Amino acid sequence: MTFTQPISTIRRDRDGAVVLDQTLLPHRTELRRLATLDEVAHAIRSMQVRGAPLIGATAAYGVAIAMTHDSGNRALEQALGTLAATRPTAVNLHWALGRMGARLLPLAPAARAEAAWLEAEAIRLQDMETCAAIGRHGLALIEEIAARRPGPVRVMTHCNAGWLATCGAGTALAPVYAAHERGIPVHVLVSETRPRNQGLLTAWELRAAGVSHSLIADNAAGILLARGEADLVITGADRVAANGDTANKVGTYLKALAAQDAGVPFYIAAPFSTLDFACPAGAAIPIEDRDADEVRCVSGLDADGRLQSLRQVPDDTPAINPAFDVTPARLIRGIVTERGIAAPGALRELFPAAEVPA
Ligand code: MRU
Repeated sequence: MTFTQPISTIRRDRDGAVVLDQTLLPHRTELRRLATLDEVAHAIRSMQVRGAPLIGATAAYGVAIAMTHDSGNRALEQALGTLAATRPTAVNLHWALGRMGARLLPLAPAARAEAAWLEAEAIRLQDMETCAAIGRHGLALIEEIAARRPGPVRVMTHCNAGWLATCGAGTALAPVYAAHERGIPVHVLVSETRPRNQGLLTAWELRAAGVSHSLIADNAAGILLARGEADLVITGADRVAANGDTANKVGTYLKALAAQDAGVPFYIAAPFSTLDFACPAGAAIPIEDRDADEVRCVSGLDADGRLQSLRQVPDDTPAINPAFDVTPARLIRGIVTERGIAAPGALRELFPAAEVPA
């Protein structure tokens, strides 16, 4: 596929990195320059950058930024520790930091900054290629449905696993973009994804790319699946355990349950950096609990076009805000990776331990 990001989600800018601030989307397109370790950690924590592969790449740039200021052993340990503590669920963060540590720790401090920039850039480029390969493999699923029935292939997704969440075309949306490039008609059902509304980012991406789509309330997924209005569900992932259980944005599990009941195939799209072979099953995946105010409030533009957070309930209304849930492997038809599509329990067939250790 030939997809290129309309705006780079992250790029090097001298001794810093420039990211697209996703907390302002889809209302405003603003770039933000990150120049210190603390700014990078804040960008990940506050979700200025988000999406598992992009979180990993951003952390890698964060290490490079830190090494530019101080490349001693303590500074390196501190950078790795600070970034590792930003968000707990997406394992890509730990994959990227593990890779940075393995590359930099054996080096003399004077050699670290340059090596760190090269490694961060390599992670970004690798993610671009990985997304394209996921797009090619996932395209087969869409082509197969298009060959069977007339009309657009109706793909339901959740959250945002498009280009905004990666350094390339995305994961779950990469097959959609690949089909669109080939002229295969697709229509994407995009769930809002309360409380942070990442579905609005997906709708924004698809609108800009000219891909047919409908925004739906999260709670509408069940009726649409039951009525046969989706041919396929594809979502991204934040961590896939060794047995195929998969953590992704909260609400994914409900879609998988409804898809199973309706007989609609449910797929996960995820790169190797999202696979956690050291984690035996979903129960061991750490699930991020975020600020309850994300549930109490909604955000949007006021009459003057200013972004506002509006409180829907009294401040002291108790609220619970798990940011992810776990979809058991039994509900997942397959996992679309850069090496092909595997049954959830059979990922090692694509990524043998001898070749790619966890
Ligand atoms: O909290 P977020 O917005 O970082 O969560 C994002 C998701 O859950 C995505 O589906 C996942 O990271 C895959 S992104 C290619």
